[in-house]
Amino acid sequence: MKLWGGRFTKETDALVNQFNASLPFDRRFYKQDIQGSIAHVTMLAKQHILTDEDRDVIIEGLNAILEDLNSGALQFDDGAEDIHSFVEAQLIERIGEPGKRLHTGRSRNDQVALDMKLYTRDEIDGMFILLKDLLTAILDIMEKNTETFMPGFTHLQKAQPVTLAHHMGAYFEMFKRDCLRLKDIRKRMNFCPLGSGALAGTTYPLDREYTAQLLGFDGPTLNSMDGVSDRDYLIEFLSAMSTIMMHLSRFSEEIIIWNSNEYRFIDLDDDYSTGSSIMTQKKNPDIAELVRGKTGRVYGALMGLLTTMKGLPLAYNKDMQEDKELYFDALDTTKGCITLFTGMLKTMRFNKPAMEASAKNGFTNATDAADYLVGKGVPFRDAHGVVGALVLFCEQKGISLDEMTLEEYKAISPVFEEDIYEAISLKTCVEKRMTIGAPGPEMMKKVIEKEQEELLALKIQ
Ligand code: ARG
Repeated sequence: MKLWGGRFTKETDALVNQFNASLPFDRRFYKQDIQGSIAHVTMLAKQHILTDEDRDVIIEGLNAILEDLNSGALQFDDGAEDIHSFVEAQLIERIGEPGKRLHTGRSRNDQVALDMKLYTRDEIDGMFILLKDLLTAILDIMEKNTETFMPGFTHLQKAQPVTLAHHMGAYFEMFKRDCLRLKDIRKRMNFCPLGSGALAGTTYPLDREYTAQLLGFDGPTLNSMDGVSDRDYLIEFLSAMSTIMMHLSRFSEEIIIWNSNEYRFIDLDDDYSTGSSIMTQKKNPDIAELVRGKTGRVYGALMGLLTTMKGLPLAYNKDMQEDKELYFDALDTTKGCITLFTGMLKTMRFNKPAMEASAKNGFTNATDAADYLVGKGVPFRDAHGVVGALVLFCEQKGISLDEMTLEEYKAISPVFEEDIYEAISLKTCVEKRMTIGAPGPEMMKKVIEKEQEELLALKIQ
């Protein structure tokens, strides 16, 4: 009995350790952990809680660990519980006694809260740059296509003619808002939790303002219980990532439709499409489909963390360790999707004749034919009825409005004159839409100029 009993206990311990450990995933922020420790000891020495000599030895030791981790000379030892214990144990092993003073006036609770914030701040900055690259790519397409006509849709039915610049401009707005959201989150989260201790601060005379300043924060957090247990900024960031993915997914859906045999609005570069192992004719929009598919994963991470947090009493609870894996996965997924999507967009070719032909063949100018009649004094409701008759006629003959003869027009309403052709040409239909935000090329060019200025001025802080 003892034999297996002893064995059982041992195996259970190993399992518990494995279950409890976070090093396999929190090693990701080793740089931030070391950065935080350096600021902490700098402040401790300034407050005479630590001698200057100890501070210097500790910082030297921490920098050496950082270097060795960067170069790969030092490997993460899976025996350690988490990144905090790993770095501290390494430090003590390397410099002895002074290393044991590193954790003075600090708990792993405020330490992990700090590390996650530092790491997240860096990630927000990185994602902001990726989004700006995407915005630049979109704006580039806009500049070149203010007169590329295409149908605009409602209910996925051709509605009114627009231009490619206008269509792209809608996505520019979405990703611009995404950038602003990141900026907003960064500003709100930028307060330093270090010094909150385990939950109730510490009895040491820490200078929290100073630590906050050293680490580039706008100040210290003002409640130590909240300081160690706030994960709102992660939820906000996951929500912003979910919105970015939702935008990318809508865009991907359109690319998939435009790439279909029926539309042929675009040609994807070979680098961004794949073939079929059996059907040789296929050129599949896999990247767009994967972006659309991966959106679910990012939403999942958001729901996961919201659910993890919902029942937690103050202050720190180990449940919070679960804020990492799904979040990291969402980060990698979102960054990957923005990068690949931008590459796909930059190399995509637009089939302008197909877009224009499609805009012509769907009665996208029917509203303009009605407006023409209104211009000649016909009440709008009557004009709507007349154009309905025109559309029916064309559908029966399999032609478009501009292919009708003047006699055919006159047979339906004597109000029509020769100038109907100009009034319903794609060019006129689009050009006449010249209010702010509309596709008319003149206004579009002004909007593009404004977007260029905004993009240049768009900074994360
Ligand atoms: N690995 C832990 C986490 O990710 C660090 C904090 C541990 N604190 C504690 N009291 N066990 O949340």
